[in-house]
Amino acid sequence: MKILAIETSCDETGIAILEGTKDGESFSFTVLGNALLSQAALHAEYGGVFPALAKREHIKNLPPMLEQALKQAGEQTLDAIAVTYGPGLEPALWTGITFAQKLAAEWGLPLLPINHMEGHLISSLVQNGKLEHVALPVLGLLISGGHTEFALMKDWFDYTLVGQTKDDAVGEAFDKVARMLGLSYPGGPEISKLAEYARQNNITSDIKLPRPMLHEPTCDFSFSGLKTAVLYALRDLGGMHTLSSDHITAFAREFEDAVSDVLIAKTRRALEQTDSKTFVIGGGVAASKHLRRTLGARIEAEFPNVEFRLPALDITGDNAVMIAMAALARMLSGAEIIPPPETIAAKGSLSLQTAK
Ligand code: KG4
Ligand code: ZN
Repeated sequence: MKILAIETSCDETGIAILEGTKDGESFSFTVLGNALLSQAALHAEYGGVFPALAKREHIKNLPPMLEQALKQAGEQTLDAIAVTYGPGLEPALWTGITFAQKLAAEWGLPLLPINHMEGHLISSLVQNGKLEHVALPVLGLLISGGHTEFALMKDWFDYTLVGQTKDDAVGEAFDKVARMLGLSYPGGPEISKLAEYARQNNITSDIKLPRPMLHEPTCDFSFSGLKTAVLYALRDLGGMHTLSSDHITAFAREFEDAVSDVLIAKTRRALEQTDSKTFVIGGGVAASKHLRRTLGARIEAEFPNVEFRLPALDITGDNAVMIAMAALARMLSGAEIIPPPETIAAKGSLSLQTAK
């Protein structure tokens, strides 16, 4: 089965063509074509994603990217079109949906609406192009610019949220703190890079940031206090302009350490509460090397019966390959498509719990 998938929920435009096959309980995916374009540099001057600009860029870029993906894939007979319908920025989502609807009508193909977070989760479970040997329940820690949540998949495509952020998403906190430190957007990779440098070169500071909600007996998060703590710490030091580059580097390290400590502690709680057999992380922040390392070591030490799966680095951020994988997994296993394609509309705050 071959599918063309479109992703436009935020500031990445993605079109991918994948072939998927099913052999017993095992799914195999081959990427036949993949066009991905980040608008990050254009949004950088606004310090974050500017929805009207994202919409304009998606509209402009989708047609040439379609050509590029089709050319890369060569002569293929497609079986369906998949498109992200939420969560995300509604004006951006609509560009992908309208484009997909037009293609589906022109080519006479079925249209599958896919939840962006399901794309992150399912694709993060894929290893070397294969989705297999997945022991349920799966606990997913989804960490991106818009979301921070624990999704429990008890049965395939049946999700329960067991914890989420009460305010900022973790990626959002990375981006806002990076801005305070004078780093460019998107700030997550910048902070992460500086923090790695600080660890390698033993650069530390006396700044101690809070670990919000660490001891609260829930799997929920809060990151806005951490962001405020950075603001106050910077003010107490006399402002950003007084900081040396070592100071900024040490700040980045302490911030990433604080975030990782919270994510690790909450993961331990969520694993204990849910009795999960597989743990997976997904979303842009899953690219943090420190987080990948520390979470991995902790789970291996404390939960030897839980399998930890990490997404390949090139699919942690938004892309259309992940949307195609979720769509193929659903189609090949005969899962119901929700919502019915005829009623497809952009859903800015779509939850995974409605994706069953
Ligand atoms: O999943 P994603 O590409 O887009 C959303 O769906 O939001 O996630 C983007 C987020 C941004 O906040 C970005 O700063 C963060 O992921 N990010 C990182 C890293 N790479 C991207 N955060 C920490 N460390 C990284 N290496
Ligand atoms: Zn995302």
